[in-house]
Amino acid sequence: MSTAVDQAAVRAALADFPDPETGRPLAEMGQLVAVEAAPPAIRVSIGLTTHSAVLWKQVRGRIEERLRTRFPGVPAVEVTITPHHRPPGKLGQIGLEAKSVVAVGSGKGGVGKSTIAASIAIGLARAGSTVGLLDADVYGPSVPHLLGLEGRPQVESGKIVPMRLAVGTGSMPVMSMGFLVPPGEAVVWRGPMLHGAISQMLRDTLWGPLDYLVIDMPPGTGDIALSLSQVLPLTGAVVVCTPQDVALLDATKAIAMFRKVNIPILGMVENMSFFVCPDTLKRYDIFGTGGAKRTAKELEIPFLGEVPLQIPIREHGDAGRTAANYDDPAARPYLEAICERLVGHLAATNAARPPLPSLPTL
Ligand SMILES: Nc1ncnc2c1ncn2[C@@H]1O[C@H](COP(=O)(O)OP(=O)(O)OP(=O)(O)O)[C@@H](O)[C@H]1O
Ligand SMILES: [Mg+2]
Repeated sequence: MSTAVDQAAVRAALADFPDPETGRPLAEMGQLVAVEAAPPAIRVSIGLTTHSAVLWKQVRGRIEERLRTRFPGVPAVEVTITPHHRPPGKLGQIGLEAKSVVAVGSGKGGVGKSTIAASIAIGLARAGSTVGLLDADVYGPSVPHLLGLEGRPQVESGKIVPMRLAVGTGSMPVMSMGFLVPPGEAVVWRGPMLHGAISQMLRDTLWGPLDYLVIDMPPGTGDIALSLSQVLPLTGAVVVCTPQDVALLDATKAIAMFRKVNIPILGMVENMSFFVCPDTLKRYDIFGTGGAKRTAKELEIPFLGEVPLQIPIREHGDAGRTAANYDDPAARPYLEAICERLVGHLAATNAARPPLPSLPTL
């Protein structure tokens, strides 16, 4: 057995393994950093970008499994991940430095878009990706409240310094109209002003280079989706719904709306899927069951996961501690699974199409 296990054989075994960011073979971009085949051990070092940080553990496991299957006689297989630097290009007329721009929307209000958008941003950032969060709900911004952020952003050389949410050992830039308009004040926006507000928050905020910009969309209306699609190429939209028929119908309309403005659909998240009574541990399907999965299948879009209705999720939101959902073992696995499926799906779609257009800044 040992004669067949040399460096070339190990490299060949991993040659077509896809990079979880681009979907292209790791070997193509110099991401098979070091390969050591010294029976009884195989040691491999793989370079991965922070864009796929949420998948690093999963990728390491899959590579180890592949090596164990290909070289069953080798008792020790060790795979380490090292950071691979691949900076983002500039997107759209505004030159946003981001690799993926993900809008989180729904057709219906109050289904948990902002909670899910913030949770996706926090989950990706916790794993090690560089993430920004834009609250595009200019009429009813709720991100500042959900994240417990307040105050007015500073302006430096004509650019807005975003507020920052502490996540893990770093922090995440967050921008919302809620930081610019005094709380409780009603703003009447007309179409062009709305477009101006969105593009200004995108263009004039000092985001820094990002792996992801997550955008919390307002309910329903297509105006903001249209504005967004005009200023930069969105990677796609995640549609949030509840299992209720009416919410699913609205979600289907939202999907049609995103498609109309050429924003690809990245998948569907079902929120408030079920309730497990803390006293009896009995499960209640308050809004019905399985509807979103079925709808996603019918519409041929990925189902990214479900989030149960949980009192702590609402309490954390009210207390400005949405990030604390990740400290809760009853909520965390659901949120992490959504982040993993989303990023996994991005790699699959990236592999199937050329990279996003990087246009020169105007
Ligand atoms: N899975 C959940 N369990 C318990 N409460 C939840 C859950 N998801 C969201 N909530 C709560 O439901 C309320 C509405 O959520 P959220 O603001 O995220 O919805 P939305 O779709 O963004 O609303 P809007 O349409 O007003 O923008 C909040 O109080 C939030 O804390
Ligand atoms: Mg909202």
